[in-house]
Amino acid sequence: MGDVAVVHNGIVENYETLKAELADHEFTSDTDTEVIPHLIEEELTADPDADLLAAVRRVEDRLEGSYAICAVREDDDRIIVARRGSPLVLGRSEDASFVASDVTAFLEHTRDVTYLEDGDVAALSEDGVEIFASGERVERDIETVTWDADAAEKGGYEHYMRKEIHEQPEALRQTITGRLDVDAGDVDLDVSFPPGFLADVEEIRVVACGTSYYAGRYAAQLFEELAGVRATVEIASEYEFGAGRTPDRTLVVAVTQSGETADTLGAVRRANEAGARTFAVTNTLGSTVTREVDGTAFIRAGPEIGVAATKTFASQVATLAMLAVSIGRDRGALAAADARAVLEDLQGLPGAVQQVLDKESRVREAAQTYQDSEAFFFVGRALGVPVALEGALKLKEISYDHAEGFAAGELKHGPLALVTPETPVLAVLTEGSRANETMNNVTEAQTRGAPALGCVSADAEYDTLDVDFPVPDVGIVEPLVANVYLQLFAYHVANEKGRPIDKPRNLAKSVTVE
Ligand code: G6P
Repeated sequence: MGDVAVVHNGIVENYETLKAELADHEFTSDTDTEVIPHLIEEELTADPDADLLAAVRRVEDRLEGSYAICAVREDDDRIIVARRGSPLVLGRSEDASFVASDVTAFLEHTRDVTYLEDGDVAALSEDGVEIFASGERVERDIETVTWDADAAEKGGYEHYMRKEIHEQPEALRQTITGRLDVDAGDVDLDVSFPPGFLADVEEIRVVACGTSYYAGRYAAQLFEELAGVRATVEIASEYEFGAGRTPDRTLVVAVTQSGETADTLGAVRRANEAGARTFAVTNTLGSTVTREVDGTAFIRAGPEIGVAATKTFASQVATLAMLAVSIGRDRGALAAADARAVLEDLQGLPGAVQQVLDKESRVREAAQTYQDSEAFFFVGRALGVPVALEGALKLKEISYDHAEGFAAGELKHGPLALVTPETPVLAVLTEGSRANETMNNVTEAQTRGAPALGCVSADAEYDTLDVDFPVPDVGIVEPLVANVYLQLFAYHVANEKGRPIDKPRNLAKSVTVE
């Protein structure tokens, strides 16, 4: 606008009121963002002594909602940035400064980063960075990102998503490294809970969105089974702290890869307001969620660029499984020998996933055979349900095909009406997913002509399947390993169709508006 330009991420909630106040300004769009440069311009006109930094500070007082803003002005060689509620991170090197909403955007230039806090305003120039909070100059820590710079690039794969699917053994190794004491049946997640914090927790409520929500559904079953705690999962945007719950006996666990999903942050804030204990499981150091909870466990999956989450789902479930063991042990609900068995399965996870990846050509063939189907149904029971739901989500996200996941027992209560020879059914038939009962449901679909593809435990055999994908024996994490077949299936169906796999239409990696 005039000589001022801005970039804005977030929502200016009172933009209509502000626009009315700016009646003598000429607007060229209907966006909420456009009020910001006009407001800055107004401040600069009202006070000719004010510079861009001062003007942005004053404008901040007039904005309601969430924002990360970058502003520039002709004849001023600085970039002025400000944040409230939306992520903003600065990169710092000897001869340049960077600003982005996510570190990976400038990782190839610098690993030294500063996470701005809510309310911070900063001026970036050739000479470096100056940060202000409440009008005062402040220093913020510079952290060094330890991710490999080239980990953020495609490394020879055609798509980030396929690269990230293949990175899962390594990501899982990073997730569990140094955290398991298998002999003792113990876990060290680097989280210090106050004494007694876990012992008197009555209920765990997981809040999350999208793929993280399915990781949460997997985890809730593990919390009940391994930690002996009642656990429920809620879509973050639906979450309210319900009546009949004792806040200080409820642990709310937010699962979020980015740590910036607005719906999940909203749920955490509602839980905090109610007085509940809050905990985050995230991939992102310094993210907003980590500042709003009582404790955080990092999943350490490394940067994930593809919009469709893959390796972070695996690392989330592995981290949540460790958390379940940790809570179970702390509360005396899990015997050392039982914990040991789970930890051995977790140790076997990277190798098991590698064995699945080695069978990629088989999955590609199946994708080629069935890619033109009318719809795809995914089924499982118990721990197979979240995996079926996640398998369907992955396929619809990147291939744009109609895909749905069901608890296998529900097929006969409705979805069976949709089943035809043009609707393949993909089933999770592993340990932890009540394989025999699931197979009975698959057979019902096959009777109606549907082709059936199954991810099957190594020691089981279902001769009637049209395609079987063997899953190595890793106990309660077998469904998680089966999920890798479903990721590859989604990838290859989408790839055959030439879809823009890393950036599917209408979707964003991190949704920072509610
Ligand atoms: C978006 C992404 C999904 C992701 C969800 C939750 O919708 O497209 O892949 O699962 O956000 O993101 P989070 O960062 O909170 O895990």
